[in-house]
Amino acid sequence: MNKLDSELVESKLQQRGYEPAASEDDAGVVLVNTCSVRQHAEDRVWSKLGKLRIRKRREPGLVVGVLGCMAQEHKRYMLARMPHVDLVVGPSAFGDIDDTIEQARSRNAALVREREPARTKHDVGGAGVVVVDHGVSGDAIKRNVRVRPHRSQAYVSIMRGCNMPCTYCIVPSTRGDEISRPIADLVEEAQRLVDDGVTEITLLGQTVNAYGRDLKGQNATLARLLRELHEIPALRRLAFITSHPNFLNAELIDAIAELPRVARYLHLPAQSGSNAVLKTMRRGYTVERYKKRVDQLLAKAPDVELHSDWIVGYPGETVADFEQTVEFVKDIGFAQSYVFKYSPRPGTVAEELVDDVPTAEKERRNQVLLAVQEELTAARNRALVGQTVEVLVEGPSKVAGRLSGRTVHHRLVHFPTPEGANVADLTGEYVSVRVTEALAHSVVGEVAPEASFEVGVVES
Ligand code: 5AD
Ligand code: SF4
Repeated sequence: MNKLDSELVESKLQQRGYEPAASEDDAGVVLVNTCSVRQHAEDRVWSKLGKLRIRKRREPGLVVGVLGCMAQEHKRYMLARMPHVDLVVGPSAFGDIDDTIEQARSRNAALVREREPARTKHDVGGAGVVVVDHGVSGDAIKRNVRVRPHRSQAYVSIMRGCNMPCTYCIVPSTRGDEISRPIADLVEEAQRLVDDGVTEITLLGQTVNAYGRDLKGQNATLARLLRELHEIPALRRLAFITSHPNFLNAELIDAIAELPRVARYLHLPAQSGSNAVLKTMRRGYTVERYKKRVDQLLAKAPDVELHSDWIVGYPGETVADFEQTVEFVKDIGFAQSYVFKYSPRPGTVAEELVDDVPTAEKERRNQVLLAVQEELTAARNRALVGQTVEVLVEGPSKVAGRLSGRTVHHRLVHFPTPEGANVADLTGEYVSVRVTEALAHSVVGEVAPEASFEVGVVES
């Protein structure tokens, strides 16, 4: 969601005549888009803002902005204590960010004129423009479809906010209530993206499969939206993240099973494999209920792989609770897991609980769960060796001379750049790759002999 928000801000600024700088140090406007979900993410931003404070002493005309959940959460502190921050704009409130930046620029220019030529020891500027609760949603922007991860890939936010009561989570307070966008708007946006060459769209929402419940009387559900978007012939892959187990219903299961171009992975965070922990987290389901829904899904769509998020070291989580999580991960056989150490968040229900699992023990559980997942992923990767998979190329891999991309299961695949091929031309293409080697988090392969690089003629 933050990646998309950054793209929407970038597209807005480009429309206003701004251009991306070659590096952060060359930029006259630096916007930091932030996340509050864990303390670690916030710490990195505080340290970045500290560095920008030093830079701003040298360059008083520099515009520094903080966007996203930390802007919402820490607006008072930023106003009072961070005079080098010029604008503070909450999540999804950036629809008129170009005007806000222009205001900050003229304000800084005025301050610079007042203070020059003397260089003061103090910061100039100050959180002059604060837009938090009532800004214009980024989704209201007629987006510039050209700004996207690469020519074939785009994100579309279908809803903002979250109405769920998870005790540990700050998102409902920073991002506010669920607001879904009408189906017609989404179809129009998707069509514009596809007309511009996009072939893979990932729909975004905090609880993406609760889409539409605020759009009363419009029969708007994720299943219906998937069916409508599936009608766009040139759309080759249609994914959606993140789903909540409580809204994985028969209608959605049927849509996933029946629509061949819907991605074959489902990000369905379970958070814990212990009913006691799930209850205190107020997740609203039991392990048995989660498993039943997954069984129903796999009965109709056996090729779908499951991904999950887990929180280890939640207040009161015993070793026995944690071991149930380990068993659950193995039992379902998840293809991928993101594991997080519990981090108390201000203003949440769980903040009132004693954070009683020691840091070292949280770390241990984190490592154990990651190792269990790694083995499951590696086993799935080994099963791919010898098979040919369709890969949507995302660009050069970290290893020189290789390209990387993803399968319909969101598996990461690396393969040598074919001789004479141009990396930029191949990025965004679908290529058939024969898998030759399984690694822990990815597979390696080679372009299958029958493969072609012309648009649309590659077969999986
Ligand atoms: N501490 C640790 N992890 C958290 N998450 C959300 N809030 C917290 C927290 N306070 C994790 C959940 C969620 C993912 C995006 O972040 O697993 O699914
Ligand atoms: Fe946070 Fe729960 Fe909403 Fe996910 S569903 S964003 S974990 S409150």
